[in-house]
Amino acid sequence: MTGRRLLVTGATGNVGREVLAALAGSGHEVVAGLRDPARWDGDCPAVTVDLATGAGPDGPFDAMFLMRPPQLADPAPFRAFLNRYDRATRIVFLSVAGAERKSYLPHAKIEAVISEMGFAHCLVRPGYFMENLTTTLAGELSRSGKIVLPAGSLGFDWVSARDVGAAAAWAMTAQTAPEAVRVTTGTGVGFAEALEIVNRAAGTTFRYDPKSVLGFVRHARRNGEAWPFIAVMLMLHTLPRLTRETMQAGDVGEVLGRAPETLPEWAARNADGLRALQADQRRGA
Ligand SMILES: NC(=O)c1ccc[n+]([C@@H]2O[C@H](COP(=O)([O-])OP(=O)(O)OC[C@H]3O[C@@H](n4cnc5c(N)ncnc54)[C@H](OP(=O)(O)O)[C@@H]3O)[C@@H](O)[C@H]2O)c1
Repeated sequence: MTGRRLLVTGATGNVGREVLAALAGSGHEVVAGLRDPARWDGDCPAVTVDLATGAGPDGPFDAMFLMRPPQLADPAPFRAFLNRYDRATRIVFLSVAGAERKSYLPHAKIEAVISEMGFAHCLVRPGYFMENLTTTLAGELSRSGKIVLPAGSLGFDWVSARDVGAAAAWAMTAQTAPEAVRVTTGTGVGFAEALEIVNRAAGTTFRYDPKSVLGFVRHARRNGEAWPFIAVMLMLHTLPRLTRETMQAGDVGEVLGRAPETLPEWAARNADGLRALQADQRRGA
């Protein structure tokens, strides 16, 4: 189905960029949403979207990729943002795996708002982004060559933002979309093994340094990390150790007609960026 009008929020983010890449050349009219459109250098037009205040463009849109900026936990501005749109607009929301069982998550609260408001929707629920290695965790890698986290031997369900973005683009443009799409593999890989895989593929020598919760908090504070960042790191890397969740295989194969990208494939594709982090670390050492 071509010729739909689509809004992509978080267009500068890990997943938003991949949604746009997946939609490029599709024949749809794509609009990028970001806080400061003057900074936009992409191929499609850009408009102001600020999900902290609820500011956004007038519609109509046939479908929208909606993401939750990591610093926003309150669902109220999302309600204000969405309220201007026709309820037939398909909201493809970037949620997180397990949101259907964890009502305390901000993602679960936004899922509820979308559904309560009566929007057509598809909830994209991904596992743990491989891109965390080159974004959130990159500072530590370029400083010390290590991943320092209170995750013990906990396994993570690693997925690439490219697959998450492609699944979201599919959900925005398919004739019909399911209520939810899981972008997961069903397999847990811990940080020690993940870094071995990355090192083999990218020729790096990164190491995992597991810490206790207290040891991690001390380490992060010594490195000048803010409390909200520390809280998110603990929620992502320690809380699942306590809840002992079972992982579930996802829908990528069915939706995209191919297997999800693997960690070795992702590391080979991102080898230059990973090696640059290592080079920074060696220069600083
Ligand atoms: N990391 C993971 O492993 C993981 C796993 C599952 C789900 N998730 C979820 O994925 C989401 C993050 O997605 P991402 O990694 O693609 O994002 P990201 O790379 O962290 O980028 C953040 C995006 O949010 C935008 N943004 C920030 N403040 C905004 C505001 N007030 N209004 C509108 N846009 C704003 C930024 O755009 P501008 O600054 O240009 O406006 C940027 O595009 C989070 O909800 C996270 O919980 C993450």
